Amino acid sequence: MYQVRVLPQDVMFSVGEAETLLSAARRAGLAFPHRCQVGACATCLCRKLAGEVTYRLAPVLTEKEQAEGWIFPCLAMARSDLVLTLE
Ligand code: FES
Repeated sequence: MYQVRVLPQDVMFSVGEAETLLSAARRAGLAFPHRCQVGACATCLCRKLAGEVTYRLAPVLTEKEQAEGWIFPCLAMARSDLVLTLE
């Protein structure tokens, strides 16, 4: 299990290695923006400020977007504790 801190609300939730960040956030009762849950709508897009994620199916992100920390929580799985921002 990893710990995920979400800014600017500064709330925490736990996520297992095999579940997506969105799934874990919703299980924890967080109002995490989402629609399609399959990496198509970009509604869930947020920035990772710290930590590592991996994808079973890599979403379409440019190198610049990846360098800026953009991730798809509906597809991303944690590989370390994380800090995310919804700002
Ligand atoms: S919920 Fe649509 S891309 Fe993540």
